[in-house]
Amino acid sequence: MRTQVAIIGAGPAGLLLAQLLHQRGIESVVLEARPREYLEGRVRAGVLEHQSVAILKAAGVGDRMMRDGLPHEGIFLHFNGRNHRIDFADLTGKAVMIYGQQEVVRDLIAARMAARQPLYFEVDDVSVSDFEWSAHRTDRPRVRYRMGGQEQTLDCDFIAGCDGFHGVCRQSIPERELTVYERVYPFAWLGLLAEAPPASHELIYANDSRGFALLSMRSPTVSRLYLQCLPEEDLNQWPDERVWSELQARLGSQLATGPVLQKSVTPMRSFVAEPMNSGRLFLAGDAAHIVPPTGAKGMNLAIADVQILGQALESYYRSGNTEALQAYSATCLRRVWKVQRFSWWMTALLHRFDTDNAFDQRRQLAELEYIVSSRAAAQTLAENYVGLPLS
Ligand code: APR
Ligand code: PHB
Repeated sequence: MRTQVAIIGAGPAGLLLAQLLHQRGIESVVLEARPREYLEGRVRAGVLEHQSVAILKAAGVGDRMMRDGLPHEGIFLHFNGRNHRIDFADLTGKAVMIYGQQEVVRDLIAARMAARQPLYFEVDDVSVSDFEWSAHRTDRPRVRYRMGGQEQTLDCDFIAGCDGFHGVCRQSIPERELTVYERVYPFAWLGLLAEAPPASHELIYANDSRGFALLSMRSPTVSRLYLQCLPEEDLNQWPDERVWSELQARLGSQLATGPVLQKSVTPMRSFVAEPMNSGRLFLAGDAAHIVPPTGAKGMNLAIADVQILGQALESYYRSGNTEALQAYSATCLRRVWKVQRFSWWMTALLHRFDTDNAFDQRRQLAELEYIVSSRAAAQTLAENYVGLPLS
């Protein structure tokens, strides 16, 4: 089999890239290790930047998001027993959209099916090769995989590595070509999805002496809540009642409780691999970088990467010009590092670090006080949260 762009991974990055290419008349094949039901049911991030909303709408997959998504014009910071609002609309003229990642994935899969374009689930043993970029080559990048017990080969012009942090694409790049920058945090988030009306109409990020907590939501009847915990936290030690009372204590809000639909522990890491390509293999999304979830940036970074990659591929297929493709990594990384900085900063601002002493805790609170009392400081948070421009 042969295609123009082989896309490995059907998360937000791979699926959106496939849709952007299809809109531009560029062929692709998407290969995904997991079954469709798994992808559509997996609960993950939920905040879309202003610009991500515009990209999804322009990609023709915005209808359900505009109908069911919840536009938010601000967030609350909770500390010293009080909520303080950061007003995005006033500070930036922009808003974000609450819409679950698995809903974005569902919309993109539906679009791919409607377009009758190839998207294969439950594909095994994917390997990528021959992606070096040499002016004299006649051979092409190649993807091998197994589907329904049969070995398959896919020849292509380019490979898009959209296969997440644990995927094969980044690992297939020779080690000497990549520099990895990483920080692993000494805490994790215990996440709860519950059938309970959210106690606030906007998100609450809490810095409490017991640790960080976050109140988020998926709809007017479904709450998404998080608690700072240990990376090795044993969920058996956290029966629902304990989680609710801990959330209540940290958020300082009277929470409506309800049936718990899902409970999990997410480790926290900052990670960047540079450059984001090797020859004709381009990494996008979690395959290239991970942010701690405090700034709500993971899905948005994936969307920005493939928007840039889609434009670069379009320019190549229109005119044969490889300039934008050659610049892909540098273009993405300029923004990725700013978003890494913001995600690290939000994390450092709101969590308890076991190495912190009383001085550090006072300093954190002073910084929060500063943010809510200075328009300039609030604006810095707001413009990053609603999303920095693509370039
Ligand atoms: N072969 C085929 N598919 C693979 C392989 C493989 N060897 N390895 C991984 N995959 C698939 C995974 O099953 C997953 O569906 O690649 C997909 C990667 O998707 P995501 O992990 O969702 O990554 P991405 O599309 O970059 O989206 C980033 O996900 O983790 C969140 O916070 C993050 O919101 C951000 C978003
Ligand atoms: C979520 O709703 O899942 C969510 C919201 C904000 C974050 C992280 C996750 O910072």
